[in-house]
Amino acid sequence: MFSSFPFRTAKKILFGTGTIDQVGTELKAYGASNAAIITDTTIAAAGWAAAVQSALDAAGMKSKVWDGSQAEPSVEVGEEAIDFVRSGGFDSIVGLGGGSAIDIAKGAAVALTNEGHIMQWIKEGFSKPLAPMALCPTTAGTGSEVSDTAVFATPELKVGLVSSMLYPDVAIVDPALTVSMPGPVTANTGIDALCHAIEGYQSIQANPLTDALAIESMRLVNAYLRRAYCKGSDMEAREGMALASLLAGIVMGNADTTIGHACGYAYVYPATNLHYPHGHAIAITFPYVMEYNALAQFEKHAAIAEVLGEEVEGLSVRDAAYLAPVAFTKLMQDLRLPLSLEEVGVTEDMIPMIARNVLKSPNHCRRNPREVTEEGMIELFSHAFEGTLAWEM
Ligand SMILES: [Fe+2]
Repeated sequence: MFSSFPFRTAKKILFGTGTIDQVGTELKAYGASNAAIITDTTIAAAGWAAAVQSALDAAGMKSKVWDGSQAEPSVEVGEEAIDFVRSGGFDSIVGLGGGSAIDIAKGAAVALTNEGHIMQWIKEGFSKPLAPMALCPTTAGTGSEVSDTAVFATPELKVGLVSSMLYPDVAIVDPALTVSMPGPVTANTGIDALCHAIEGYQSIQANPLTDALAIESMRLVNAYLRRAYCKGSDMEAREGMALASLLAGIVMGNADTTIGHACGYAYVYPATNLHYPHGHAIAITFPYVMEYNALAQFEKHAAIAEVLGEEVEGLSVRDAAYLAPVAFTKLMQDLRLPLSLEEVGVTEDMIPMIARNVLKSPNHCRRNPREVTEEGMIELFSHAFEGTLAWEM
């Protein structure tokens, strides 16, 4: 017997090389005539903002570019974008970039139709539907183009603006936009996509639809991330990773994440002074999260091990499950990612504090398939500190 479940995503998804050319006709269909393009200087310098402007122009739309997006955007940076869009006579938004630009674009689209500011919306919500919005990722990882969340940083912590109104009118996933990503960025964003798929698969909010998409996303990452990392111009690999990221984003938009993301947040800024890219931060502790959760979900972790390329035939489901973190670690080795917390500047005396930080993310803990205890997290981070799986010891 199947339980009932909801399933939400963007109103429309356009996937494929060259689909960015349709951004103008898509927004025009919503009656838009003047778009603000929210992006960053790197994407603008690569020529993608100009390409979007050409597509908007071809559809008879006016546009202007705001390129002030930064990694892990602060509330202040988001407010700068809001000042820009409110003063420019715009009626629609294009988000063009990685997760940061896309999250800022969501805030800008709220600002065009609602009074107030980001922190106010986070605390009190907002009521009016957003201005027409197209979200166009230039990395294959965050999945923010199909999520209902926009994340901003304050000096104390990261805060999320969450609303079903943040799903865009159209998500345009054009793999050609990801070709210029250097190898380390490909690795950082691609491993983040894989963590979204696996955490969504582990989540107690998972359902048969998200499970099917998560497994396919993992298969695509296993087939294409190494290729995209080794040769950025490999278009089949870029398309495979763009699709993997999209599927993982849809999974995350419904099943959300488990303690994988909470463990990654627990040891980097603002919890400590350590700065590390999002995907890397989560990946370093992720094998230990998989090992922790495998005990609660042998069948699911055995399926993860198999789809990530481990030989599971003839093994017990328990032995197969514990190969899932082994497969993940092999991918990290191939992508030249650090494999222990010690390598990235964490010291042993920080472990109890970092372990307690995970418990400060009650929603991640609630969605986790295995109960999250302080003792359990200390054990998890002790293994992550050494970079040694208990299964291997
Ligand atoms: Fe993530």
